[in-house]
Amino acid sequence: MPDKSSLENLWERVSKSDSKSLMKKHLTPSVYKRLKDKVTNYGGSLADCIRSGAVHLKSHCGIYASDPDAYDTFSDVFYPVIKDYHKVDKLEHPAPDFGDLDDLGFGDLDPKNQFINSTRIRVGRSHANYGFPPTTSKDDRIEMEKITVDALRSLRGELAGKYYSLQGMTPEVQKQMTEDHFLFRDDDPVLGDANGYDDWPTGRGIFFSNNKKFLVWVNEEDHLRIISMQQGGNLAEVWKRLVKGLTTLEKKLTFAHHPKFGYLTFCPTNLGTTLRASVHIRIPNLSQRKDFKEVCESLNLQPRGIHGEHSDSVGGVYDISNKRRMGLSEIEAVQEMRKGVEKIIQLESQLRNTKK
Ligand code: ADP
Ligand code: ARG
Repeated sequence: MPDKSSLENLWERVSKSDSKSLMKKHLTPSVYKRLKDKVTNYGGSLADCIRSGAVHLKSHCGIYASDPDAYDTFSDVFYPVIKDYHKVDKLEHPAPDFGDLDDLGFGDLDPKNQFINSTRIRVGRSHANYGFPPTTSKDDRIEMEKITVDALRSLRGELAGKYYSLQGMTPEVQKQMTEDHFLFRDDDPVLGDANGYDDWPTGRGIFFSNNKKFLVWVNEEDHLRIISMQQGGNLAEVWKRLVKGLTTLEKKLTFAHHPKFGYLTFCPTNLGTTLRASVHIRIPNLSQRKDFKEVCESLNLQPRGIHGEHSDSVGGVYDISNKRRMGLSEIEAVQEMRKGVEKIIQLESQLRNTKK
């Protein structure tokens, strides 16, 4: 393992490897030379950005922004990575558009409950003028937690609930909440090596609405992850709740936004809408097909295991979500996921029928 604080060591490890990450692909020797001594206004370095990807050579993306300035300071590597990941030719992102909530044109994707266990949509948000994990101090984390908790108090009706700090939580409750898909993990080495667990658990926690369908994660990978989820396939209900919660919080908080990339997040894969709409879906037949990954890729979908990123599927149940988040609007990202999931359901049905 390289000395994780030394840029030279990290660079040596990744440049000599056969890593297929987007970071490795676009951080060519000449780009590296141009960027290696640059520092952002938050004190972020190239080492802070590539640390995780250089340690975890199997990373798909392999780079994080040390802070909101890193995307432009290290643009020679970030811009091509962003284009590559989000499949866009131009670095531009449309204004937010959540669609016509009274006339969405979709509802329950699985009214007979044959395929979908649960539906979840999340967006990430960063507080304006704060660094991301590698450049955040303990005091920053405490301050960000405080302003978030103050804003959460403005939620009313079905969104009203309570904030639970990670520090005040017993290990048993934490484990159960993580297994129930509500709480974030605390043991992902990929995030850990990106400085995501620095000062852990200071400033971290989770907000739940009383009905546990609206959640906010505080200071995990992003400053905020705003989440709406419920059992079954009613995408419209999940979406409307998310938009309601988000617009309420936006009245109290100022989020980091970039003219080219939309909402800013720690990881370039989340930029733009920052939106991941997913279903936990039972597809034991389709997932056995050799071309399952290609089918997902062709629909701009990303399959994950059911305990989150980097986990495995259990019993043919997959987490299927939109892959692209930048260069399209929020409602377009949700529609891309909806269309893809409808196609997945159609393919799984056909396979089920041929087995009969
Ligand atoms: P993120 O959504 O923040 O990118 P993960 O992929 O790690 O992060 O997922 C976080 C948690 O949310 C995990 O416990 C995962 O199983 C859960 N999750 C994701 N999608 C769904 C879903 N559709 N239904 C229930 N839980 C879900
Ligand atoms: N850095 C990891 C990779 O490149 C994760 C990327 C996306 N996931 C995330 N949680 N930001 O594979």
